[in-house]
Amino acid sequence: MFNKDTYIQRRKALKKTVNNGILLFMGNNEAPMNYPSNTYHYRQDSHFIYFFGIHLDHLAAVIDLDEDKEIIFGDNYTIDDIIWMGNQPTIEALADKCGVANTLPSAQLIEYLHKAQKAGRKIHYLPPYRDDNKIFLHNTLSIPFEQLKASASVEFIKGVVSLREIKEEEELKEMEKACNLGVAMHTAAMEYCKAGKLERELAGMIEGIALAGGNGVSFPVILSQNGETLHNHNHEQILENGRLLLVDAGAELKSGYSSDYTRTFPVSGKFTQKQKDIYEIVLQANMEAIDMAKPGLNYFDVHMYATTIIAKGLTKLGLMKGNPEEAARKGAHALFMPHGLGHMLGLDVHDMEDLGENYVGYNEHIQRSPIFGHGSLRCAKKLQKGFILTVEPGIYFIPQLIDIWEKENKFSEYINYDKVKTYIGFGGIRIEDDIVITETGCRVIGTPLPKKVADIEALMAE
Ligand code: GLY
Ligand code: MN
Ligand code: MN
Repeated sequence: MFNKDTYIQRRKALKKTVNNGILLFMGNNEAPMNYPSNTYHYRQDSHFIYFFGIHLDHLAAVIDLDEDKEIIFGDNYTIDDIIWMGNQPTIEALADKCGVANTLPSAQLIEYLHKAQKAGRKIHYLPPYRDDNKIFLHNTLSIPFEQLKASASVEFIKGVVSLREIKEEEELKEMEKACNLGVAMHTAAMEYCKAGKLERELAGMIEGIALAGGNGVSFPVILSQNGETLHNHNHEQILENGRLLLVDAGAELKSGYSSDYTRTFPVSGKFTQKQKDIYEIVLQANMEAIDMAKPGLNYFDVHMYATTIIAKGLTKLGLMKGNPEEAARKGAHALFMPHGLGHMLGLDVHDMEDLGENYVGYNEHIQRSPIFGHGSLRCAKKLQKGFILTVEPGIYFIPQLIDIWEKENKFSEYINYDKVKTYIGFGGIRIEDDIVITETGCRVIGTPLPKKVADIEALMAE
């Protein structure tokens, strides 16, 4: 937890972004896995962490703008709780740590909100994503389930985004640590990769590193020789020489900050020429995008630049044809890279995605592209100093997508389908780093993780 002034200042800044009413923060509760007391790994809501810093279940908080009052709602542990789960600081003590003067038992939240509603005051809440919090909001505010998301407060959402998108110095220090833990996971994956092992041996090992060094993984590990499936959580294959292994994984710290890296490397430790040819294109897109990113530039333009590099490289290899700039602009590259260049990163691996990508990555100046591929970009807006983003270009050979596009004769002026089909079974390559936008450009966070062919081969040969 940061110093209490951090939370006081964040809430003070947030109060300036919304006119009046009540800002309601719903903390996360424990979630049962197979019976009520056998729960999933606990994760507090990121907005609750950001504004109050308390990682404990069954809490809610309000900032009452009309009465200029802050209250945390929660219950102190009873002796029964203490016997099974140990002692906890009181809610009053936790509130004091984040500079909140008032606490009330959780049962009083409903009454507090009902009273405010009766007085015609606005209750601002953020889009709920946990079912128990949806049920609470539905029951308490009498909003139909299907309208809960649409009735969330846009003012509140925009206020939160305007603060959380600019990372403070102390957040950056946490991000360095989260990234270094991510680097340790990926380095170990490269070092322990060996034909004959199961993918899940590596997946389990790197998850263990994340747990030993922090709060576990920042999202379920993606580790597969079938890297063409973008979020492949199946780890059942045996590692085979000759194949590529894609590892997309990151760590979360106890403070909640996350990293997100992808590396793709040959199981044998040595790239074939065919693998190297594709790899170098993705690497060039990753490195040139990092060179390019700076304040004042739309991330959409960096994404466009990276996709043009992909199209140019594939044209040079004969997999695409025609004018690569035009091909990428129109979306022909998306057969190979159907996702965007990256997303914001922070307390969430897709930072603030619960608020809606269009509020986080887009604004009144830039709308989402309707083109397949470009439209998957999670963050397109103008970069500012303090933004933390991923840079994650890729090239994938997705048999089903190739089949559909070929049958539709889609972009046949730009795609050499006969040659593309010879790459079926190749898998996929993604290279992902985490960057912070600085005064004049950007820098990669954390200890650099090998990504050049020679560096990966050298590490794997050790
Ligand atoms: N971890 C999924 C992604 O890279 O966005
Ligand atoms: Mn990733
Ligand atoms: Mn990512």
